[in-house]
Amino acid sequence: MDGRDAGIQNAAHLLSNALRGLALTGAGISAESGIPTFRGEGGLWRKYDPVKVASIEYFMADPSAYWSVSRERGGAALAARPNPGHRALAALEAAGRLTAVVTQNTDGLHQDSGSRDVIELHGSGRAVVCLDCGRREPRAEVQARLDVEMPPRCQSCGGGKLKPTVVLFGEPLPQPEISRAFELARHADVMLVVGTSLVVYPAAEIPLAAVRAGARLIVVNAEPTPFDGIAEVVIHGRAAEILPAVAARAVATGA
Ligand code: APR
Repeated sequence: MDGRDAGIQNAAHLLSNALRGLALTGAGISAESGIPTFRGEGGLWRKYDPVKVASIEYFMADPSAYWSVSRERGGAALAARPNPGHRALAALEAAGRLTAVVTQNTDGLHQDSGSRDVIELHGSGRAVVCLDCGRREPRAEVQARLDVEMPPRCQSCGGGKLKPTVVLFGEPLPQPEISRAFELARHADVMLVVGTSLVVYPAAEIPLAAVRAGARLIVVNAEPTPFDGIAEVVIHGRAAEILPAVAARAVATGA
């Protein structure tokens, strides 16, 4: 049995006995759905300055800095479909091996794949809100008019500050979501981390809180992460390939 198989076997064993399993996901789980990551190979922040295109300070000064990148790349996220990695987490939840999925992603693919309890730490990229009149609009409708309107304008008040309902750099995370995520982490028996570089806080603090409270840590990521050293199981590879194998074994042998 090679190292990867042993890792899959060990991860499945831990999850098969989990009563309060918790997952934390990042951009890597959606990479195989065609959405580029941020820091990995071909990542968004390798091409754009995150402060200039995704901070609240710059957004308030000039919303088109954000929307011009969305014009180029936003369509991919809206057109994306869940992959076997997302579906494997939904299957683990349905089998009672996972309590919830905490995600840094704003693409909504966990919900599309059937996960019921999804905690969106960084908001959702599927809606926008007008900062002048508060009107909300589906993101897809705004995306559709970016070729003729930059920045896009509110259909109700004409205002030019349509903000995606995501957390931009410099904005606080939504309190109910972050509190609940930490509460679940402090009671988790198994913490499964998938597809995240674990460099953005407070999201990266969640697996630490779980390990401090006694949870056993599993890391599934294409590249090494800063937490590999404290993990019980580390599997380097593609989530859409590894998670279905782990889930199939965990559900088959589940407690
Ligand atoms: N399967 C598993 N892991 C993958 C895959 C894959 N197919 N493809 C890439 N990865 C890994 C990369 O190796 C990288 O370590 O996913 C990780 C993605 O890391 P980031 O791009 O840093 O994304 P993430 O950790 O989600 O970023 C956190 O930063 O930019 C902000 O708000 C944004 O939510 C985001 C936050």
